[in-house]
Amino acid sequence: MTGAQWWRDVVAYQIYPRSFCDTDGDGVGDLEGIRRHLDHVAWLGAGAIWLSPFYRSPMADFGYDVADYCDVDPLFGTIEDFDRVVQEAHARDLKVLVDWVPNHSSDRHRWFVSSRSSRQDPKRDWYWWRDDRPDSAGGHGPPGSPGRLPNNWQQAFTGVGQSERPPAWTWDPDSGQWYLHMFLPEQPDLNWANPEVRAAMADTLRFWMARGVDGFRVDVVQGIGKDPDLADIPDADQPPSGTNDRPETHEVIRELRKVVDGWPDPPARMMVGEVYLPTTAQVATYYGTDANPELHLSFNFPPLFAPWDAGAWRACIDAVVANLDPIGAWPTWVLSNHDNRRHRTRYGSESRARAAAVVLLTLRGTPFVYAGEELGLEDAVVPLERQVDPGGRDGCRAPLPWDATAAHGWSPGPEPWLPWPPDAGGARNVAAQRDDPASILHLYRRLLAVRRASPALTGGDFEWLETPEGVLGWVRSARPDDRRVVLVDFSGAGGPVPLPPGRWDVEVETSGAGEGHTAEGVIELEPDGAVVLRPK
Ligand code: NOJ
Repeated sequence: MTGAQWWRDVVAYQIYPRSFCDTDGDGVGDLEGIRRHLDHVAWLGAGAIWLSPFYRSPMADFGYDVADYCDVDPLFGTIEDFDRVVQEAHARDLKVLVDWVPNHSSDRHRWFVSSRSSRQDPKRDWYWWRDDRPDSAGGHGPPGSPGRLPNNWQQAFTGVGQSERPPAWTWDPDSGQWYLHMFLPEQPDLNWANPEVRAAMADTLRFWMARGVDGFRVDVVQGIGKDPDLADIPDADQPPSGTNDRPETHEVIRELRKVVDGWPDPPARMMVGEVYLPTTAQVATYYGTDANPELHLSFNFPPLFAPWDAGAWRACIDAVVANLDPIGAWPTWVLSNHDNRRHRTRYGSESRARAAAVVLLTLRGTPFVYAGEELGLEDAVVPLERQVDPGGRDGCRAPLPWDATAAHGWSPGPEPWLPWPPDAGGARNVAAQRDDPASILHLYRRLLAVRRASPALTGGDFEWLETPEGVLGWVRSARPDDRRVVLVDFSGAGGPVPLPPGRWDVEVETSGAGEGHTAEGVIELEPDGAVVLRPK
């Protein structure tokens, strides 16, 4: 894919490196494990991989606490291993996106170590340091006590086994000030109001572009800019990561866009932002304008949080059409990732997961597939003694089973860092599903192939069809004469659905049963079934 805006044409495949494949026997996935399985991603038909963080990190947030933005953590391998992944991905026509975590670094990053060392340190202002709240502003208690917190912000994570969110501030007794962390105390927030921080972070983008990286998934976009007064917020807006939708952030993103667009070597590089905001209208603003562009793509999470319900999904799709189309912004679609329960688990059955795959892969925009969803993996059940994530997200991060053997294609050795997902030794592994043409894995592969071959599905227009209650249907069309009709049953009942005039070939059906048949006038949808139809 070498088109100018290649990110519009591809299906991206998210790899959480710790959970993909271990090759060195430590129970944690690594870059070599990713390299060995690039053929799986290419066979599936994806056009890009997104790697969650593999940088040097103490792993307080499993890599989203970066101690060196320009090096690989030894747990995952070396920078040469990374280069090999890029080279071999490119050889398979796969673009490579890497995660980039600008809102915060690790507290072990040399910048923070320096910043923390004294109030006079030249990097003091690279992070958010504040004095005790003074008595005159309602503070009470000795220095560093909870009554003296600079504001009421709470961090996003509760911690393993905890239910209350701690404050977003940690007291540093040596220098006598608090520092801000919207996530863990081990993740101090960088101060993007400081031009030195902007310059240093822009250099980290250049470092990876020079190594051939095609784009960045930008973490916690909405939180980057802060209210310079760090004012208290209403309790209902906690944690503030969701509410720091600030003008300062847009300014930063516009600047970063210039860095990325300004990279001289082809292909064009891109940014897809994690804009974790509750409405598509808010997300839309992070694409910027033609004159002042911001993100090339943005995640839009309302559909990920929507129940499996025709009305809820129709509203989500309408919100995308209403907010993104008018400004020429290209949507993204995502059902699962490393932060949320997998959609197979949320929706409760494989047939719904199959129908959801049809939705994901036939709407207008760039779909993101989270490794393992193509197997219909469910979240692992993680007993208390094996829970490790301070954000409670272990289940969806279970290791990927490659085959039915005891080690499931991972290096034999200790148990992986998290338990296997259900049925890893039965049908829920790559080898078993590759052997079974009726598997969900083959359904994903067919959908990706059909999408790639159809200009209508890749880039065409979108229009709703009139459908019975509990069913959604749409037409995708591209000039001169490519068209597809998509019908999805959300009701669980199935039944007859009227078709637009003409004869239609069943190109994809979630169960596979009707593929190759021709329909005219009406089609019988299976319960929780979905079809893609092409004109005969
Ligand atoms: C969003 C990432 O997806 C998540 O895994 C991480 O914990 C937070 N940002 C903080 O970096």
